[in-house]
Amino acid sequence: MKNNNTIALLIFGGVVLILVSCAKTDREYSEELKHDKPVRQFTAALDMYESPSIETYGENSIYSDNMGSRHPVAGTIPRGFMPYMYPNTNEGYVMAGDSLRNPYSNTPANLAKGADIYSKFCLHCHGTTGAGDGPVITNSNGKFPPPTSYIDGVSSGGDAMKDLPVGKMYHTITYGRNMMGSHASQLTAEERWKVILHVQALINQGAPANEAGEGDSEEAATGGDDASAVVEIEEEQTAPEEN
Ligand code: HEC
Repeated sequence: MKNNNTIALLIFGGVVLILVSCAKTDREYSEELKHDKPVRQFTAALDMYESPSIETYGENSIYSDNMGSRHPVAGTIPRGFMPYMYPNTNEGYVMAGDSLRNPYSNTPANLAKGADIYSKFCLHCHGTTGAGDGPVITNSNGKFPPPTSYIDGVSSGGDAMKDLPVGKMYHTITYGRNMMGSHASQLTAEERWKVILHVQALINQGAPANEAGEGDSEEAATGGDDASAVVEIEEEQTAPEEN
């Protein structure tokens, strides 16, 4: 009995010795241990080398397409994002004009933000005053027709610019219109509404203040001859922006 135990112990010890001698001493640094190349290893703590968790963007066999990262569920929207419900059709344009209102008012900070966006995304076509004489137009040797003048133009949709509802402006900025491209990927909803405040300020320079749609009480306060108001707005761009 005693002999048997000793033999068993010796065999066990021999097996352990053989297995241990198979293990790599430099395995932490081994090429073979990279996650994309699983290898057989002898170690009591296998999980420390080959993590069983699914790697971000890695392959796994749980889904039929073998992709670890999944598309969001249909209809998922980012936090704080408001989907735009009106289709890119003339009916959508008219509906937007009838029902959308600017959620931002004419505060100096909002106007300054709008003027800043205008100077970066719109001025090169529409011009500083909105007359449709931005450098893209004036340098094109007649290749690009000028956009509708904010001052005395009539929208291709039929409204005089001074009567153009903000919802139609928002629709145009979102989807684009004829020669004007969509700005949906460049401007958030908030930025689109704020630049509209500046467009209205430009329109109001050429029209009696009380005809320019909502939020015009402050416009009236700055008066009809407010070239100076725009200068003030542009100076405010250097002030820290509210978020
Ligand atoms: C590539 C030149 C270009 C740029 C950049 C551009 N526009 Fe326009 N925009 C146009 C043209 C051209 C029209 C006339 C479109 C038409 O009705 O045929 C227009 C029309 C408009 C109208 C009238 C929309 C209507 O419903 O009739 C508004 C408002 C307007 N743009 C605002 C903006 C604002 C705000 C920006 C910047 C975010 C901007 N645009 C950037 C060229 C441009």
